[in-house]
Amino acid sequence: MIKLNDDITKAMDAESLKLDIQRHLRFTLAKSKYSTTKWDKFRSVALTALDRLHDRWIDTQEHYYDVDAKRVYYISMEFLMGRLLDNMLVNLDILDEVKEALDELGLDYDEVKENEFDAGLGNGGLGRLAACFLDSMATMGIPGYGYGIRYDYGIFHQQIRNGYQIEKPDMWLQFGNPWDVVRPKVLYPVDFYGESVPYTDSDGQLRFKWVNTQSVNALAFDTPVPGYKNDIVNNLRLWKASSSKAIDFQSFSQGEYIDAVRDSQLQENISRVLYPNDKVFVGQELRLKQEYFLVSATLQDILRRFKKVHNDWRKLPDKVAIQCNDTHPNLAIPELMRVLMDYEGLDWETSWDITRKTINYTNHTVLPEALETWPVPLMRNLLPRHLQIIYEINKRFLNDVRDTFGHDVNKVRRMSIISEGEKPAVQMATLGIVGSNKVNGVARLHTELIKKTIFKDFYELYPDKFINMTNGITPRRWLKQCNPRLSELISEQIGDSWITDLNQLKKIDKLADSKAFRKKFTDVKHQNKKDLIAFIEAEYGISLEPDSIFDIQIKRIHEYKRQLLVALHTAMLYNRIKANPDAEFQPRTVLFSGKAAPGYTMAKLQIKLINSIAEKINNDPDTKGKLSCLFLENYTVSLAERLIPAADLSEQTSTAGMEASGTGNMKFALNGALTIGTLDGANIEIREEVGEDNIFIFGLTDEEVEQKRREGYNPRDYYDSIPELQQVLNQIRDGFFEPDEPELFHPIIRNLLDEGDYFMVLADFESYTKQQQEVEKLYKDQAKWIKKAIHNVARVGKFSSDRTILEYSKQIWDCEQISLPKDRTSQKNGNNKKRKVSKQKA
Ligand code: IMP
Repeated sequence: MIKLNDDITKAMDAESLKLDIQRHLRFTLAKSKYSTTKWDKFRSVALTALDRLHDRWIDTQEHYYDVDAKRVYYISMEFLMGRLLDNMLVNLDILDEVKEALDELGLDYDEVKENEFDAGLGNGGLGRLAACFLDSMATMGIPGYGYGIRYDYGIFHQQIRNGYQIEKPDMWLQFGNPWDVVRPKVLYPVDFYGESVPYTDSDGQLRFKWVNTQSVNALAFDTPVPGYKNDIVNNLRLWKASSSKAIDFQSFSQGEYIDAVRDSQLQENISRVLYPNDKVFVGQELRLKQEYFLVSATLQDILRRFKKVHNDWRKLPDKVAIQCNDTHPNLAIPELMRVLMDYEGLDWETSWDITRKTINYTNHTVLPEALETWPVPLMRNLLPRHLQIIYEINKRFLNDVRDTFGHDVNKVRRMSIISEGEKPAVQMATLGIVGSNKVNGVARLHTELIKKTIFKDFYELYPDKFINMTNGITPRRWLKQCNPRLSELISEQIGDSWITDLNQLKKIDKLADSKAFRKKFTDVKHQNKKDLIAFIEAEYGISLEPDSIFDIQIKRIHEYKRQLLVALHTAMLYNRIKANPDAEFQPRTVLFSGKAAPGYTMAKLQIKLINSIAEKINNDPDTKGKLSCLFLENYTVSLAERLIPAADLSEQTSTAGMEASGTGNMKFALNGALTIGTLDGANIEIREEVGEDNIFIFGLTDEEVEQKRREGYNPRDYYDSIPELQQVLNQIRDGFFEPDEPELFHPIIRNLLDEGDYFMVLADFESYTKQQQEVEKLYKDQAKWIKKAIHNVARVGKFSSDRTILEYSKQIWDCEQISLPKDRTSQKNGNNKKRKVSKQKA
């Protein structure tokens, strides 16, 4: 007889895992060996993992209650999780056992895991950062919760047709999400519209009620977030909109019935789709609804949990820290004020004090087009009570400003939360600064820039509020999982404590001098490149040269990121081959991938240009074995995991001062690619860590960019004076890369030559190409190149998101790291022992 506490759903050995997989196939999924599909195989493994995760999830959550832990709430409109199977099994420490179990069932783990859809609920860096933070919070024992939206459609699926980007819906939920559990009873109403009416309460106090609202329900779906080998399982709770109206079948005529069902569908549109814009504000009502939907449901849940054990609201900041990922969740500020005043009966001052101690805001960009500014009429219509509270916050705040700085009208206007003028709008960043405890930038340069530029006035007022938290990446996904060969090589040398303490990698630094280690390191990179070559051959029918430099640029397509610089350089290399076909040429493979926002015409035209250049290069016999270029479609977390381990050269080419941090730069360096990049974002700190000799820095500094803009910049000077640049630009202008439509790329040329080249592509071209020559020179000396690659891996420990999370914990959240007591860990069931027995058997 199997008992609840020792049944096979808890055991961690291969034999039990095998039985559990079989059990799920038959009893959960109702499939026989004749009817099992690939999806079923994947799901049965996921369900087997979930059994272990849920057990630990309950123990962890109960322990947080036992010790009345301070909780951290990471609120984000985006969580770019990617696939989860590998991560779940690695963190549960049963990957080898599952592989063995599948092997015995005649299945191949690598094939099984390919059946999972990427959870692409994000655009890029901001969403992936949230995902890395979840992994690090669980691993570092921080009682953290992710809160977001369960979009039916995540970031669109990108196809490339005839060189152009085509957007297709992302069908990630088409077979259901195997990882989340719906909580039908965790359901909160979220109100919209209506009006705010004053009344006097029984104590004679003036109060406000939000009435005549239309309400939508938020329904919770939970995904477990395991820490690495510590039995902690945190929670990611995503909200789905569901209709709040019960349909009264009897009273409806046929037409009314159909209308009623349609209306309920309309309400559910709130969580239908992720806005596909990266660092661009789109002021649509639906987006504001999404933001408030997230904030309202999340705060109801946070406050419910707090109220279960506490009755003094003044204790809230001691037990709760809220982190707003960008300004998108900053309505949390007026919402918390509203709940404390309107429902809990607190006065303004107390509510304000609590709110300002509880909420924190992360700034992710200084690009003006990204800053959220909601038109006052839109907000008045959708959230009248919130607008009223924002006005009151603003009135009191501006009084403080006058008290501090005197009657400087311009300053007051600049600092107002509501920008006045023809189209008054709520400045969400300003609201975030005024209503929060800490405001952080995401890399040192970026934090310095916000203090000097967009938030200068606020920094003068609140110098201690602004702090830096340089971003990081999780070493579990971005080294251990995506690059098993390099991980094993490292662990062979220094053990595996680096997985949770990335600075340990410093120990391999000196191995750069060992010929034997360099050989092994080279073999790893070579094998990784061969894996990628096989993938590209299968998907695109293009064969690549493993000994060429794998030069990779993968990120959102954005003018400030300057994919154009890399494209122009690639075209220039092509011209060199054509001019001198017999000359020696350092072989190179240039790979691009990334999505452009569907409405971003210039970025989409750049994708087409890259594809046209690639086509020219790849179809010319003169380039064979020398130069290849490919734009890989549909960039996702999973594709990044294939590309990064195979890279030799990491392209980080943003105009200085414009990339807040970047995290792709960290992933490449950690996997042994050398960076060619500007002094921008975290590149600066990467250079500091790896050393100037181990990175290729080019281009203007942020100050030089500013100065050039101030003093007048003439891109034509560069066009006139750099013949190879001129040749490429003329080719693009004259239809050399697109003979059937010779004028197609004129907007790009106009932008560069006639419209001021805002991103200074031409100004940095020469410096970039010079550094690319240095790259080629160094690559020819493989021993030297590999030494530098090893130094990169060894010296980027700082960029672990574990470090970032511990900084947030100490400097912003003021919370403790927790470990589970023995009776709440897997050891309570003797599982570890069981695992060892199984391993010996194997
Ligand atoms: P929540 O924090 O209320 O969302 O509950 C999450 C999980 O925490 C529950 O499923 C329980 O396992 C655990 N939990 C909830 N309330 C308590 C409590 O009062 N004491 C101990 N554990 C609790």
